[in-house]
Amino acid sequence: MRSSEGLSLVETDENGVATAFRADVLQGLSEPQKAIPARWFYDDIGSELFEDITRLPEYYPTRAETEILSRHGEEFRQLIGEGRAVVEFGSGSSVKTPLLLDAIAPAAYVPLDIAGDFLRASAETLATKFPDLPVHPVEADFMREVALPAAAAHLPKLGFFPGSTIGNMVARTATDLLRTMRATLGEGSLLLIGMDLIKGPAVLEAAYDDAAGVTARFNLNLAERINRELDGTIPVDALRHVARWNDDFARIEMHLEASRDIAFDVAGRRFAMGEGETIHTENSHKFSRRSATLLLLAGGWTPRARWLDSEGRFSMILADATIPRSAP
Ligand code: AVI
Repeated sequence: MRSSEGLSLVETDENGVATAFRADVLQGLSEPQKAIPARWFYDDIGSELFEDITRLPEYYPTRAETEILSRHGEEFRQLIGEGRAVVEFGSGSSVKTPLLLDAIAPAAYVPLDIAGDFLRASAETLATKFPDLPVHPVEADFMREVALPAAAAHLPKLGFFPGSTIGNMVARTATDLLRTMRATLGEGSLLLIGMDLIKGPAVLEAAYDDAAGVTARFNLNLAERINRELDGTIPVDALRHVARWNDDFARIEMHLEASRDIAFDVAGRRFAMGEGETIHTENSHKFSRRSATLLLLAGGWTPRARWLDSEGRFSMILADATIPRSAP
């Protein structure tokens, strides 16, 4: 790796805790429906648990997206071209990212992620697989515009946002992120994005509540992280993992539900939950072809090509940073 030291842009306090984490948790636990943004799942433990989720039999998105990337490399090469800087929003997967890099022969690879240790470890693994490719990891919150490393800034860019992570945001946040990505990447950029598709609730609920309990551990790790990092006293044994389909919003919701009345402290503040009350920890929106198109257009990206896996469960869309003005 040419530049393995990376660059840290995450604001932390004197204990190394992300200040935004504390603010989001305190505010989220104070709302009538308690809720914490899903991005805080991904400390090092959460990132490892998520890797385990991607290998579960019930969790089809990773396999489906990997199939798309394996099958359509030649089309990607033709439509994207060689010599771009691939800017990945997230640490990069040890399977999916190499498939893309093999297909399009980029000039640089820039993974952006808030989980620094995980970012550096996966960037190093990738740099070993692609010894001639300059790799420039940037530890940053990609929800904000990021100044790219000078060595990649002058190259044409391909944003890569696999995994349907966009589905973890409500429409307004997703639109803001797409616009921020556009600002980070610049005019003339392309975006290759994974978007999971709407399907029967039974398949979806199983994918988010697996028999081995890995997704439950992933969800509960958020409460454990609060205890570790924010002087929390949440009785984690009194919380239960819940995953349910919300048809009105076309999304799977994950919650932590109290199995009895509890009270606890976080960062010096007192909170209580009644039996059956939940902390809403994640939305995972699923898309139709039309809802995916509308979201991308609202974010300033025009879809140019779309691929599905062989079972029609998952989509990848290539979009460009132009806005068509075909109507008044
Ligand atoms: C990262 N993200 C796209 C995953 C999803 O499917 O929404 C996170 C996840 N949560 C539970 N399982 C997987």
